[in-house]
Amino acid sequence: MCGIVGYTGRDQAVGYLLEGLSALEYRGYDSAGVEVVGTDGALHGVKCAGRVSVLRERCETANLVGTTGIAHTRWATHGAPTDRNSHPHRDCTGRIAIVHNGIIENFRELRSYLARNGHALASDTDSEVIAHLIEDAWAGPCRGDLVTAVRHAVRRLRGSWAIAVVCADAPGEIVCARNGSPLVVASTPDGAFAASDVTPLAGVTSRVIQLENGQLARLRASGEVTVFDEEGAPVDAPAVMEIDWDASAATLGGYADFMAKEIAEQPEALERLLSGRLGEKGILLDELSMSEKDLADVDLVYLIACGTSYHVGLIARTLIQTWAKVPVICDFASEFNYEQDVLVTPHTLCVVITQSGETADTLTAARRMRGMGCKVFAVTNVLGSTAAREADGVLYVQAGPEVCVASTKAYTAQMVASALLALRLAQAKGEMGRPEVERHYRDLCALPGLIREVISRSWQDKRAAAVFRRAHSALFLGRGVNATTASEGALKLKEISYLHAEAYPAGEMKHGPIALLEPGFPVVAIVPADRVHDKTVSNIQEVIARGAVCVAVATDGDEDVASLVEHVLWIPPVGDELLVPIVAVVHLQMLARYVARTRGCDVDKPRNLAKSVTVE
Ligand code: G6P
Repeated sequence: MCGIVGYTGRDQAVGYLLEGLSALEYRGYDSAGVEVVGTDGALHGVKCAGRVSVLRERCETANLVGTTGIAHTRWATHGAPTDRNSHPHRDCTGRIAIVHNGIIENFRELRSYLARNGHALASDTDSEVIAHLIEDAWAGPCRGDLVTAVRHAVRRLRGSWAIAVVCADAPGEIVCARNGSPLVVASTPDGAFAASDVTPLAGVTSRVIQLENGQLARLRASGEVTVFDEEGAPVDAPAVMEIDWDASAATLGGYADFMAKEIAEQPEALERLLSGRLGEKGILLDELSMSEKDLADVDLVYLIACGTSYHVGLIARTLIQTWAKVPVICDFASEFNYEQDVLVTPHTLCVVITQSGETADTLTAARRMRGMGCKVFAVTNVLGSTAAREADGVLYVQAGPEVCVASTKAYTAQMVASALLALRLAQAKGEMGRPEVERHYRDLCALPGLIREVISRSWQDKRAAAVFRRAHSALFLGRGVNATTASEGALKLKEISYLHAEAYPAGEMKHGPIALLEPGFPVVAIVPADRVHDKTVSNIQEVIARGAVCVAVATDGDEDVASLVEHVLWIPPVGDELLVPIVAVVHLQMLARYVARTRGCDVDKPRNLAKSVTVE
């Protein structure tokens, strides 16, 4: 993970760098640092454990003057989050500094090699070796040519990297290199920028260059950006991307935190995604880039994802199997990548679901699937992300920038995208006639209104949050698609409130988790009006009989639940019971947020987590 940013131009660098780090902080926030090439011809930097706000305070007193600099916000992989392990890392001469996002797999071997050759390494990180390898190249045949020195150094690396390098002897220049980890560069009238993704650049320019794996870039203070291939030859037409995101979308806009803002943005996000999706021939999903015949031939769908996106996959599995009658396998990317035998048919469609489009395990899985000859379709939120660029087809869920580490609006948008995909497949396979497709589309289009209604009932979640104040653990129960809603509710709660939470299919509770129940133990039951409603009500009875406190998500007018349970989180009736998870989860998002706030947690930046997990 980690976020990197670089600026060289006519303005002072530190302001841009700190702003850039704040925008990238969702990638990691256990330590941060900045380094500038000073007017005295030396490097000057500040780095420290803690968040970007801590670095900002230190920078105020350090008075870093210089128009070329690099900066980093870290999510520790190798070495504890300490001042010493924070980036940037310097070489032995103190005249070269690097920032790195990724993992250098052969760092032990390189550290021993460097130590044998007289280098003194100052940190426990894998990244520091890069600075010393560049030092060797610069001291040798590459002196005066930073691009070549960096090119020589990265040739010795195994693993993944996005790096930015400054050298006191090459003022007004930053050299970047990419392999595996994302990196964008941009030329503007005020100078040239580099960043892990477009977020820090959205207010600065609307055109960025996405570096491809193996490419390097040289940024000059004049604003000139030159991209080079692995052999060092300039690339004529590097991949330019137009940013169409509104920079203000990444500001709080009056909300207490990004989670609150992003929960509130769900109805609009779904409206954007659903708009214009019904045409003369039914559901329009041209993004699939597949012919009608290829779609009709699909005989197996593989859904691969991580974290919250994996929960989307579980819901999508039911939607696709029920509507399109195609068998579906849903797997965690991190598990899939190490499975020995993967069953694929000649007509397998692989769908990777990833908000960021940069999750390392998901990207590896997509590449493995492509290697086996499968078409890969990406459902993602981030324009031009690696998953989007490498896939055969991509559906952008258009939820807008999601800043809070815990996913909310991307989750519901990805579920709606999955429903569209299920309908499109059902249509192509002749499993659904036009009236049925239209009915389902109408149900989907009703979701934003239903979510608005749930959001207006947030007081119910606020009140129910009191149940968790002194709890150490919680159990979430649901059946069918709402067993997944339970899993997502439990994940949200533990991510942001650090309260242990476990989800179980309600009918399975009697085979183990029931042993946990004691007076006051909180249980959240998802019990909408559906075909398994009465079964789940029986499970609630079992919970209450043991003195546990039940919070239920139930459909308006449900007297059975109202008479049993003290705290009901009410949802309005949903057209199709398979779509209930998209509405019910909104209560669980709000509940988790209130519990986290009651417990004094930072809901947007939970400890140890990062939004974009770009390491394996
Ligand atoms: C991290 C985030 C989660 C996210 C998961 C998968 O763990 O904290 O919120 O669900 O990565 O991310 P992706 O971008 O692939 O959906």
